[in-house]
Amino acid sequence: MLKVKQVSKVYEGKLTYRALTDIDLSVEDNEFVGIMGPSGSGKTTLLNIIATIDEPTTGEVTINGENPHLLKKEDLAKFRRRELGFVFQDFNLLHTLTVEENIVLPLTLDGKKVKEMKEKAYQFADKLGITEIMKKRTYEISGGQAQRAAVARAMIHSPQLLLADEPTGNLDSRSSKDVMEMLASLNQNEQTTMLLVTHDAQAASYCDRVVFIRDGKFYSEIHRGDNRQAFFQKIIDTLSLMGGDANDLSSVRV
Ligand SMILES: Nc1ncnc2c1ncn2[C@@H]1O[C@H](COP(=O)(O)OP(=O)(O)O)[C@@H](O)[C@H]1O
Ligand SMILES: [Mg+2]
Repeated sequence: MLKVKQVSKVYEGKLTYRALTDIDLSVEDNEFVGIMGPSGSGKTTLLNIIATIDEPTTGEVTINGENPHLLKKEDLAKFRRRELGFVFQDFNLLHTLTVEENIVLPLTLDGKKVKEMKEKAYQFADKLGITEIMKKRTYEISGGQAQRAAVARAMIHSPQLLLADEPTGNLDSRSSKDVMEMLASLNQNEQTTMLLVTHDAQAASYCDRVVFIRDGKFYSEIHRGDNRQAFFQKIIDTLSLMGGDANDLSSVRV
């Protein structure tokens, strides 16, 4: 459903910086793919190019056969709103709104009926275990609850592709585990293809496959199979083989 073909990215500025070189990535319908690599290796750049937040310098991206980078501004906005879901490290919730209002935001923008929006919001809140906090403001809830609300918001319009950049980066290990279990179950039950950027091996072990990049280049990839614990160990081994900064490895949680 997603094809990244020979994508390179060069940031022009006082100093030009080559962030990605000839990245190829093919993701199947309903796959859950992790992207790992040391900090500065180009993970966010790659995700932002797929998300159409950023443009590739060369190469192309297609999502279900369509190259979103070629769409006109309004069509692109619609495409992003309908086909893509986003989850970020810092949750990106609006602080003046309640959890429920945050969750229905994408549907509000699409002009859906209030009753339908409410039903959907509660349906996802139930799956994510946050029904009791729907009337709360974002400053009254925990980080784990905030990220689950952000996941509900990203999923409410049933996107084809969910893109998550370090979604567990600000969470303790218990909340990380909850969020990853919920993402994995939504991936299974809602037929949403997922792409997760993370430097957390525990989080990555919930993926079907992990692609490693280093210095903006493809390094290797590994598949989970049916043993998550063994996969976790393989991820740790690959990370230490490729070498990252100490900071990346110290954040590994068992
Ligand atoms: N807008 C930008 N302008 C210039 N350089 C950038 C920009 N965004 C990212 N970079 C550089 O590109 C490299 C990859 O960044 P990034 O994709 O954020 O890495 P990661 O997410 O793997 O930590 C880094 O060296 C970073 O400094
Ligand atoms: Mg990043």
